[in-house]
Amino acid sequence: MTIAPVDDLEILRCPHCGGALEAVAGGARCSAGHHHDRAKQGYLGLRVAARGLGAPAAGDTADMVDARERFQGAGHHDSVAAAVRDAAVAALAGSGVRDDGWVVDLAGGPGWHLGHVLDALPGMRGLVLDASTIAVRRAQRSHPRAVAATADLRARIPIADGAAALVLKVFAPGPAAEIERVLTPGGVLVAAIPEPEHHRELVQPLKLLKVPAGKAAELVASLPGLQELARTTVRETVRVDRAGALDAVFMGPNAFHQKREQVETALAALPEPLDVTVAVTVVTLRQPG
Ligand SMILES: C[S@@+](CC[C@H](N)C(=O)[O-])C[C@H]1O[C@@H](n2cnc3c(N)ncnc32)[C@H](O)[C@@H]1O
Ligand SMILES: [Zn+2]
Repeated sequence: MTIAPVDDLEILRCPHCGGALEAVAGGARCSAGHHHDRAKQGYLGLRVAARGLGAPAAGDTADMVDARERFQGAGHHDSVAAAVRDAAVAALAGSGVRDDGWVVDLAGGPGWHLGHVLDALPGMRGLVLDASTIAVRRAQRSHPRAVAATADLRARIPIADGAAALVLKVFAPGPAAEIERVLTPGGVLVAAIPEPEHHRELVQPLKLLKVPAGKAAELVASLPGLQELARTTVRETVRVDRAGALDAVFMGPNAFHQKREQVETALAALPEPLDVTVAVTVVTLRQPG
């Protein structure tokens, strides 16, 4: 079976003015004349500065994306991917939302979670939005039904009103502003949020960034227009070797605060392999139909 190319201009909107985009030489343009370049790898560059916040966010570096892909590829977060996928499939079944709509993965990184969801929802198309050029490059070729674009999600989410049947927000930083605008009636948000004990065997000895309690409840409270359908917490331990532990540290925001040599030295004092807690809450919310 040949798969028709996914047309990203159907869903994407100008990050400056929200206008529809048409294809032009080298990229896309809105009716107000804002031009956005298309990279040779096929994705559109829609990353613009959020008002009052200075330069656009750069997102994860190549080293961080490599670490994330190795850690995910090793299976350490398979239970989280399965929980996100199952929550999405369960919520969409019987929701009345078209089963050939868009799944939008906010701050989706290289698109690993989106790929699991698309495999389970064979009629749907996926879009990863992320600030990181390198993550978006990988996401663009991550799945036959996925496309990607760079975006600073502290600004406007550069997609059309009501265009998303399903929004994913998995370990994604930042506020949930705009999610209600982009969800179609009956559409579903699945968010995955770490709990304070997530990766605690690394967080405590290596003095990593702590996850505050109550983040899932905070997200739900920030979306008063959506109805909560389900909430579940994945809890397990995974066994990681030293290289896996290093990836767990350097695939996330700790990469901006930690020195690799110091983390390596601290890890050498810990047992190998190390049993590491995974504790992630998956919340499902629905836009009223
Ligand atoms: C912890 S990673 C999660 C990636 C993916 N959801 C996953 O779970 O594999 C956070 C992601 O947020 C992106 N990011 C950080 N700040 C952002 C911003 N202001 N706008 C869009 N993406 C951002 C990073 O580039 C990175 O890919
Ligand atoms: Zn515009």
